[in-house]
Amino acid sequence: MLRWLFLSLVLFVSPVAAQEERSLGNASDASGCMNCHDQPAVTSVLHTAHMVKADARTGVVDQGCQNCHGDSRDHVARLRGREARPPPSVVFAGPRASPVEKRNETCAGCHEGGTATHWQGSLHQTSNVACTNCHKSHPVQDPVLVKTAQAPICFSCHADKRAAALKPSHHPVTEGRMTCADCHNPHGSLTQTMLRGATVNDTCLTCHDEKRGPFLWEHAPVQEQCTICHTPHGTVQPALLKQRPPFLCQNCHDSSTHNSQPFSGASLPGGALPSKQMVLRACLNCHSAVHGSNHPSGARFSR
Ligand code: HEC
Ligand code: HEC
Ligand code: HEC
Ligand code: HEC
Ligand code: HEC
Ligand code: HEC
Ligand code: HEC
Ligand code: HEC
Ligand code: HEC
Ligand code: HEC
Repeated sequence: MLRWLFLSLVLFVSPVAAQEERSLGNASDASGCMNCHDQPAVTSVLHTAHMVKADARTGVVDQGCQNCHGDSRDHVARLRGREARPPPSVVFAGPRASPVEKRNETCAGCHEGGTATHWQGSLHQTSNVACTNCHKSHPVQDPVLVKTAQAPICFSCHADKRAAALKPSHHPVTEGRMTCADCHNPHGSLTQTMLRGATVNDTCLTCHDEKRGPFLWEHAPVQEQCTICHTPHGTVQPALLKQRPPFLCQNCHDSSTHNSQPFSGASLPGGALPSKQMVLRACLNCHSAVHGSNHPSGARFSR
């Protein structure tokens, strides 16, 4: 029995022991790590921005893979008498991942300015989201930076946004024509809901400039906030509208004006009195320039 145990120990341990000999004392040399970690999923990191020796900011020349994984000497030279190999001081994934704070400190240590200026205090940071929940460092191309691959990563936590994107009217995010990050800065910003622009309207108008104005005749809610009438993520109404006209308009414009009749099934085609304020584009049949008008007689947004 004892002999059998001994034999199996030798069989299991010896290949690793041999590798250890080759790499002892080489923690600061990436090729030392490669003696044991030559799987393609790991070595791909050698072809990324983080392992460029000519770029002093990566620290690769002095530290090798320890630039991200931290002190790994004990890991490389497993201490005698220890049963398990101690992990490198920073592990980013898997069951033995370091605490989120420690992982984030490592990445943020080199990435403080730029688009990550407002990371500290951002909702993602304070909600204990890790850089590595979104970023992968080993693949040659980090998926979250690829237009078509980004949204599924966000959806993994924001499932309601996947549901919205499946609705008939939506921004072409799932089609890969734009990204969540076109409107949001996932690293945090000064606005509520981590928007790119200083306000909701600033964000929308970077792409929909024709709605910016100033117009000769302005429609107050448009100047105030696009999201009074639109929802950014997806709806069952056309044109990302929260409601369909006339009901949308009647949230604010009530019966004191010309459209004072109550709308019901009778106002629809087939009803007793089909109403031009219900059929087709409803109020927009006449008030078509609902975002504002530059026409001399466009006061009622009819042209
Ligand atoms: C002598 C072989 C050997 C060398 C050299 C080596 N490793 Fe490892 N490494 C291992 C083994 C074996 C495991 C799996 C440990 C386990 O599952 O208990 C591992 C696991 C890891 C893990 C995952 C840790 C975890 O707990 O999930 C990381 C990260 C890692 N190594 C990084 C490195 C880095 C960085 C270097 C170079 C500085 C390096 N390794 C050098 C053998 C080695
Ligand atoms: C030792 C410093 C250092 C550490 C630690 C570090 N980075 Fe970097 N990172 C860099 C440098 C340098 C670049 C190249 C920047 C450039 O080219 O402008 C870079 C580039 C990037 C890029 C852009 C890659 C691309 O293909 O354009 C991303 C994303 C990134 N890092 C994320 C991370 C994440 C996530 C972590 C933590 C797991 C991390 N970094 C840790 C220095 C570091
Ligand atoms: C919620 C997801 C998410 C988290 C968390 C996150 N990032 Fe990013 N990161 C992104 C996305 C998306 C982009 C691409 C932005 C774009 O397309 O403009 C990006 C871009 C980057 C870039 C590329 C250059 C740049 O500034 O745009 C770097 C570097 C980077 N992130 C570092 C980090 C670091 C460091 C952390 C943690 C402190 C972090 N990220 C946390 C999603 C995230
Ligand atoms: C930019 C920071 C960074 C650098 C540089 C880096 N790693 Fe990693 N490493 C990570 C992150 C983040 C993960 C988690 C998986 C991922 O993002 O791809 C990881 C995961 C690992 C794992 C575990 C793989 C698994 O599938 O569980 C090993 C082993 C590893 N790295 C070894 C290395 C070695 C060896 C080097 C140097 C050749 C290295 N790493 C360089 C950030 C880095
Ligand atoms: C066209 C711009 C735009 C795009 C694209 C976009 N968002 Fe938003 N998002 C906004 C605006 C504007 C708000 C604020 C909504 C409000 O005030 O009613 C917001 C709010 C949010 C919120 C917080 C409030 C809420 O509704 O839960 C989350 C989370 C969010 N977006 C995630 C995402 C994700 C994930 C994606 C990608 C699938 C995405 N967004 C794409 C503009 C956008
Ligand atoms: C690991 C999970 C995770 C991932 C991945 C993730 N988020 Fe988040 N996000 C959160 C948490 C947690 C919050 C905190 C508020 C909450 O619970 O909704 C948050 C908040 C937000 C908010 C602000 C909500 C508000 O009410 O102000 C936006 C916007 C947002 N995320 C966008 C994104 C985008 C864009 C991506 C992809 C690039 C992404 N998130 C990826 C977990 C995640
Ligand atoms: C990064 C550019 C970009 C930003 C920012 C942006 N949009 Fe869009 N928007 C688009 C694109 C692209 C389309 C699709 C146009 C097409 O399909 O031809 C679109 C379509 C729309 C539509 C019409 C949808 C339909 O089904 O007809 C509305 C309404 C709209 N956006 C409102 C907004 C609002 C409100 C905001 C701010 C919260 C916003 N957009 C921010 C690029 C953007
Ligand atoms: C008072 C409600 C309301 C507000 C506020 C509003 N919209 Fe609209 N929007 C509409 C209606 C109604 C339609 C449908 C128009 C149609 O079918 O002709 C529309 C359609 C659109 C379209 C798609 C069709 C087109 O005209 O290009 C875009 C893009 C759009 N709005 C952007 C915006 C932006 C950007 C803002 C903020 C600056 C905004 N909207 C504010 C009511 C509004
Ligand atoms: C959030 C409230 C709100 C919504 C929704 C809204 N409006 Fe308005 N609308 C206003 C305000 C406020 C004015 C300015 C009234 C004033 O100056 O007396 C205005 C002005 C108008 C005017 C010009 C009235 C005048 O007296 O000069 C017309 C026409 C109009 N809206 C049509 C519409 C139509 C059509 C819709 C639906 C697509 C709509 N509105 C949706 C708030 C709203
Ligand atoms: C058949 C065309 C037509 C339709 C449909 C229509 N309107 Fe009008 N609307 C007008 C005209 C014409 C005026 C200008 C009346 C005037 O100057 O006395 C006007 C004026 C207004 C005004 C300014 C206040 C007033 O009474 O003078 C508001 C607000 C308004 N409409 C809202 C709406 C709303 C909301 C709807 C949908 C429920 C709607 N309209 C549908 C033609 C229409």
